[in-house]
Amino acid sequence: MDATAADHEARTAEARRILADNSRGDYTVPSPKLYPFQWNWDSAFTALGLAELDTDRAWREIEKLFDAQWPSGMVPHIVFWSDESTYFPGPDVWQTGDRVSMRDAVTTSGISQPPVAATVVRRLAEHDAHRTIALIPKLDAWHRWWHSARDPSGSGVIAVSHPWESGRDNVPDWDAPLAAVDTGGVEAYSRRDLDVVGAEMRPHQREYDRYVALVEFAAATGWDDQAIAQQSPFWVADPATTAILLRAERDLAALMSMAGLDPTEVEVRIARLEQGYEQFWNQEVGAYCSIDLRTGRQAGAATSASFLAPYAGVNAHHERVVAELDEWSAETAFAVPSFDPRRPEFEPNRYWRGPIWLVLNYMIGTGLAEAGDAERAERIRTSTRELVLRSGFAESFNPVAGTAVGGVQFSWTAAVWLAWASRDEV
Ligand code: GLC
Repeated sequence: MDATAADHEARTAEARRILADNSRGDYTVPSPKLYPFQWNWDSAFTALGLAELDTDRAWREIEKLFDAQWPSGMVPHIVFWSDESTYFPGPDVWQTGDRVSMRDAVTTSGISQPPVAATVVRRLAEHDAHRTIALIPKLDAWHRWWHSARDPSGSGVIAVSHPWESGRDNVPDWDAPLAAVDTGGVEAYSRRDLDVVGAEMRPHQREYDRYVALVEFAAATGWDDQAIAQQSPFWVADPATTAILLRAERDLAALMSMAGLDPTEVEVRIARLEQGYEQFWNQEVGAYCSIDLRTGRQAGAATSASFLAPYAGVNAHHERVVAELDEWSAETAFAVPSFDPRRPEFEPNRYWRGPIWLVLNYMIGTGLAEAGDAERAERIRTSTRELVLRSGFAESFNPVAGTAVGGVQFSWTAAVWLAWASRDEV
């Protein structure tokens, strides 16, 4: 075995170990020190990695997440299955109380995260028709919730009510909308993330205060979807969440057809999102950009969200989208940075303001391959593979230096390695 093959095998063994170590029985924590509970989209991606090792365990990961589904259909972004006190904000801040009707009494956060689960279930479906059929109504209820709660006017773009709901916590898109959030009522608190990761890699304090203020605002409404849609100081249509939902709706429709169910309602929702997606297109920037729905203002810079269009099956501006991707590639040694590396706000070590996140690479690469662009897809996969070989299973990676950024021992990074980046064929 040559050195590269040996390194490759060593990383695969390490990835398996991480998933085993981070497992808490039926769910997996994203990273034991930084994120000690179940996180929504982390679990969905982690299931892709688990499916390479043990399909039953992969199913349980998703099923466990849906055990925490709210009666409204919402699937929370964090499920506090244990009572670790090392994370802020915990259940006492979220105050979601007894809104969850479940077998186990458990507290959760009050917001959701990008809905990748249906897409993952489609990958698992071939292994178990019964489990698929049991999940379909839950996936459907969650998707319906996104439309009714986060796009109540039916405009075809999905809003996020909190930066954390987008999963891309501090992407510069949120700077302007967040500036309007009043932090006057936020009492002193202590951030726990800084105990584990250097402040230079984490969101700024001014952002954190606004994150807390938004949780307190929504908690004060009693987590009332209608009040949140009408009054939340932060209400921004997100091209990533919308693309991921659009993709998930297509996968849900396919699952329904496979199960002999009528997908007509889902197809209506798909058509609405397909039409709505064009609103994100910013001709000047040449990218799909978020829209602050409170002011009508669109973000004036591209993020990696723009490259999710092929993953969503939206190819209206394909040539321009991939030209932008190529321009970015000329700027950094590794792909795909979370934010435009030519912009002054680009920070290669700060979370979603520059670093590469492998789950985004996975979705972007998958979309490009499906759009017939095997070459670009492969380039992204090769970059992903090199990052892991060099720097291991970090939370994210510096696109200029290829170094590890943020927390360590990350489940979804290990999962993307096992399911996609390490493989010869996809
Ligand atoms: C951070 C990320 C988010 C992720 C979570 C757990 O908040 O921004 O996307 O789900 O960590 O890994």
